[in-house]
Amino acid sequence: MRNYFLAGNWKMNKTPSEAKSFAAELKASLKGASHKLMVAPSFIAIPGVAEELKGSNILVGAQNMSNAESGAHTGEVSPEMLKDAGVDVVILGHSERRAIYGESDAFINEKVQLALNHGFEVILCVGETLDEREGGKLEEIVRTQTVEGLKNVSESSLSKVTIAYEPVWAIGTGKTATPQDADDVHAFIRKVLAETYSSDAAEAMVIQYGGSVKPGNVKELMAKENIDGALVGGASLKVEDFTAIAKFD
Ligand code: G3P
Repeated sequence: MRNYFLAGNWKMNKTPSEAKSFAAELKASLKGASHKLMVAPSFIAIPGVAEELKGSNILVGAQNMSNAESGAHTGEVSPEMLKDAGVDVVILGHSERRAIYGESDAFINEKVQLALNHGFEVILCVGETLDEREGGKLEEIVRTQTVEGLKNVSESSLSKVTIAYEPVWAIGTGKTATPQDADDVHAFIRKVLAETYSSDAAEAMVIQYGGSVKPGNVKELMAKENIDGALVGGASLKVEDFTAIAKFD
């Protein structure tokens, strides 16, 4: 049995003080929730949020991480810095990092390996653009991003990895993949994992869906066999919305 994993990606929203007080509200409203939960504030809001969520049932995520250990990397944040600030999980390969900042599969894979070596859990994001979907390239893109993103990751480390399938055309647009469409892609990702690793590893992988998840559609999405959670953007910025999503059942 896979456990549901509901995660909020706050993206570039909330100042450190807003994030800290928001975390305090969330902690109260999500107390006793049964699923695995996480929020990912901006880098500079992490220490305050981590302090607020210490001992709670909400993990702290980072939205990115450097591919280097330390040193001359202006503007980057290292694994040790994130660890010291209280981060449990690192989101890597988000489509906004790929599209806006040109992150390649090889570069993302360096970060995935580094994060796992530092003991973090990783959420690896994959997903196709509308052009790629309409051009019949969905499977090729999702397969490549999954296999290349996980290159040199051993089967035993996979228990620390969650895959987030986020069709780019559904992010922040209000358009959601139908639960059936999303489930089909999740099943395809599982097939790729079975071919790359084993059917046991594929069966155990938690695969989140991301893209305009809201209180009104979460239940239907989570009811699908291959959908094991959600990576939520916009709707994770309001306490009542994220609470409704996190407590969907
Ligand atoms: O990482 C979450 C994401 O990209 C989805 O964003 O706003 O469509 O829920 P949103």
